[in-house]
Amino acid sequence: MLSNQSADPAKRSSLHGHWSSRMAFILAVTGSAVGLGNIWRFPYVVGENGGGAFVLVYLACVIVVGMPVMMSEILMGRRGRRNPIATMALLGSEEGKSTRWSLVGAMGVLAGVLILSYYAVVGGWTLAYVFKSGVGAFANAGVAVVTSIRDDFLGSWVNLGLYHTIFMGLTIFVVARGVERGLEQAVRFMVPALLLLMVVLLGYSITSGHFAEGVAFLFTPDWSKLTWDTVLTAMGQAFFTLSIGMGAVMAYGAFLSEETSIPGSATVVAMADTAIALLAGLVIFPIVFANGLDPAVGPGLVFVTLPLAFGQMPGGVFFATIFFVLLTFAAWTSAISLMEPAVAWIMEHFSKSRAQAAVMIGGLIWVLGFGTVLSFNVLADFTFWRGTIFDNLDHLTLNIMLPLGGLLIVVFAGWVMCRNATAEELGGAGLIYKLWRVLARYVAPIGILFVFLKAIGILPELS
Ligand code: TRP
Repeated sequence: MLSNQSADPAKRSSLHGHWSSRMAFILAVTGSAVGLGNIWRFPYVVGENGGGAFVLVYLACVIVVGMPVMMSEILMGRRGRRNPIATMALLGSEEGKSTRWSLVGAMGVLAGVLILSYYAVVGGWTLAYVFKSGVGAFANAGVAVVTSIRDDFLGSWVNLGLYHTIFMGLTIFVVARGVERGLEQAVRFMVPALLLLMVVLLGYSITSGHFAEGVAFLFTPDWSKLTWDTVLTAMGQAFFTLSIGMGAVMAYGAFLSEETSIPGSATVVAMADTAIALLAGLVIFPIVFANGLDPAVGPGLVFVTLPLAFGQMPGGVFFATIFFVLLTFAAWTSAISLMEPAVAWIMEHFSKSRAQAAVMIGGLIWVLGFGTVLSFNVLADFTFWRGTIFDNLDHLTLNIMLPLGGLLIVVFAGWVMCRNATAEELGGAGLIYKLWRVLARYVAPIGILFVFLKAIGILPELS
């Protein structure tokens, strides 16, 4: 046991300090969860995968798999009080089981690095749109104009690379200074402001878009559109949007005080996150249908639909600029949490300062990001397995690494950790605890495994 650690795991204190309040923790996790996953990725994967049926599977995954995984991550983080790799090794040995469980933390660190390598490119894309909006590039623009602005931007690796560099620089800067500082204030302002602007956009969609058609697309299930590969994508999206499966939430849980309710916090975060994603869908699809666009265009979807809407609404230049500023902020707070596990690990394992660790890891991610930058232009035709470098990173991390990490995390919390330990963290052996335990031990692991096996085609298709 380290000298600054109490022998009683329930009394162990964090190596890096504590959140100032329960609200601070909820805000930090919400800041991590709400990001490009809600506003950029959710609408385009829904569009690519046929709408309603995908949305319902996604919602089911959030509740049945996402919630138990998130609660498990927080409780493990609080119990271990270290970076995810060290936490899993410590908790494993405390239960008299293998310390090899630390490999789950290691996979999470790797997943975070890989995800951020492309997340930062899209974050840079968002940042570029702040300036384009600000100079009025979208004012009164039609489909042809916004599409060509997007194509010109993506077509230039120098441009995309430049904004990727700025975005990574901003992320490294915050991580180097320590996550607690500033993050709380930023999120406290950003999430409500983002919600407010989404409501403004919703007003536009209701009055000027094909709202009924958008709602029908989003919520009317056409089960014939669903394959096991789509189900896997819906599950991957649930993991991604909730920031779970790689230890980011576990790393934040390490700073959580004893009194805070874990099930309560997880519920608040999941509800806020889901509300923002659904709102994004309700804004975007009516605009898609009103303008005769294809819902399945892919990653460019929001960068076409929202500029169109802003271009046509009164005060559009102002609203568009604010919106992309907020979205950049949302992406930024998420990017920080993608980097935090790797940085915490470098710090503790190699005794580096926070700033040194942030620059090392951030530099690596910045270089890797050029794989994605080039996927949209120079290397657009260089495809294998799932498509471009970007497509492969996306599939490998979101649809494979995160659910696999989540599977191992619930198995650890549900089967490896003893009942007393988890009950203590989750506030006693009441109904909520029993529900969590059934989900964590049976429903979530079997569900994840089943979808994996189906998607790989190991289990035969039913239809
Ligand atoms: N949830 C964020 C989003 O939706 C992305 C994210 C941040 C993330 N941290 C994470 C995804 C950790 C997986 C794991 O934009």
